[in-house]
Amino acid sequence: MENLIVLKDIVVKFDGEQVLNSINLEIRDKEFITLLGPSGCGKTTTLRIIGGFVEANEGDIFFDGVRINDVPPYKRQVNTVFQKYALFPHLNVFENIEFGLKIKKMPPKERSAKVKEMLELVGLKGFERRSIDQLSGGQQQRVAIARALVNRPRVLLLDEPLGALDLKLRKEMQTELKRIQQSTGITFIYVTHDQEEALTMSDRVVVMKSGNILQIGTPQDIYNEPINAFVADFIGESNIIPGIMRTDYHVEFAGNSFECVDTGFDPDQLVDVVVRPEDIKVVEADEGMISGVVKSVIFKGVHYEMLVEGAGEDWLIHSTVASEPGTLIGMNILPNDIHIMDREEEPVLSEQKEDGNED
Ligand SMILES: Nc1ncnc2c1ncn2[C@@H]1O[C@H](COP(=O)(O)OP(=O)(O)O)[C@@H](O)[C@H]1O
Ligand SMILES: [Mg+2]
Repeated sequence: MENLIVLKDIVVKFDGEQVLNSINLEIRDKEFITLLGPSGCGKTTTLRIIGGFVEANEGDIFFDGVRINDVPPYKRQVNTVFQKYALFPHLNVFENIEFGLKIKKMPPKERSAKVKEMLELVGLKGFERRSIDQLSGGQQQRVAIARALVNRPRVLLLDEPLGALDLKLRKEMQTELKRIQQSTGITFIYVTHDQEEALTMSDRVVVMKSGNILQIGTPQDIYNEPINAFVADFIGESNIIPGIMRTDYHVEFAGNSFECVDTGFDPDQLVDVVVRPEDIKVVEADEGMISGVVKSVIFKGVHYEMLVEGAGEDWLIHSTVASEPGTLIGMNILPNDIHIMDREEEPVLSEQKEDGNED
């Protein structure tokens, strides 16, 4: 796949405060890419740069190889779907979707055909004459999506579009959006702070924090090989334990030495050891490399979630068998399930931020 949009060294400042720190991002044609990160990390600002609603203080943006820094939003081949759908309340479903085509002065017959096609695409056939206030939240969101797609943009920007829907509807719409993206071949750039949503729908995920991109990869890459403890923690629940990488394949943590599969760290380097809750095997107390006391157990449907205290750490464990609170248990971790990461140093990110102001 070719790059459709390229952001190069994009810096954005609001009131002197830098909110995007030299962002570099290549978005491929026809992909479903998601910007994921906590509130305030710069996701919406990045989207607005692409839509043309925010001007970069530094850097360039390219569309199909052409620099578009100075191209106004309405001339970009991009449409946006917002969390607040902003539908016209006095127009019915058909008229809402038709609106953009009317502005373009498309003949009525052609308009009607396009609107019908869109209604079918978003699963609202038969709803043409409904007024907006007779629709559920999910249906309104479908109208908003149809309206944004009817002009056949090359790119659709979606800023937390499912945020206002309840969980069941969100799940349904996630599947729908993926289907719509695949059947239209339009590039979707999606923003969310919900890691599960990002992992379910995306071809690639861009993890952001404090105006920086930390990692870009497929959902599998990001989940299995998070680049640091922040990403690991944000992407799924994790145990993050301080450790020392003694030599290649050999790490110490929780008062024990473990075999691992990692190499290339300095001798005796301080690291973060990341272990997923589902990767801790519960065994008899005397058979575990670590032992600990069960503090709490919660039934989660597919597994039990146990909090265990041992070797000076709290351990989150997902297990299909539960141990009673108060029990002493053993815990084992296989080399493959131990993920070693450079210990993340917060100050580095804010230093970068300050440097960015200068150059
Ligand atoms: N128009 C604006 N004026 C001043 N500050 C802004 C403006 N828009 C966003 N910000 C700030 O920029 C940072 C990034 O915001 P935003 O891109 O909306 O983050 P996200 O979408 O990831 O929650 C936040 O600290 C926010 O307060
Ligand atoms: Mg936002």
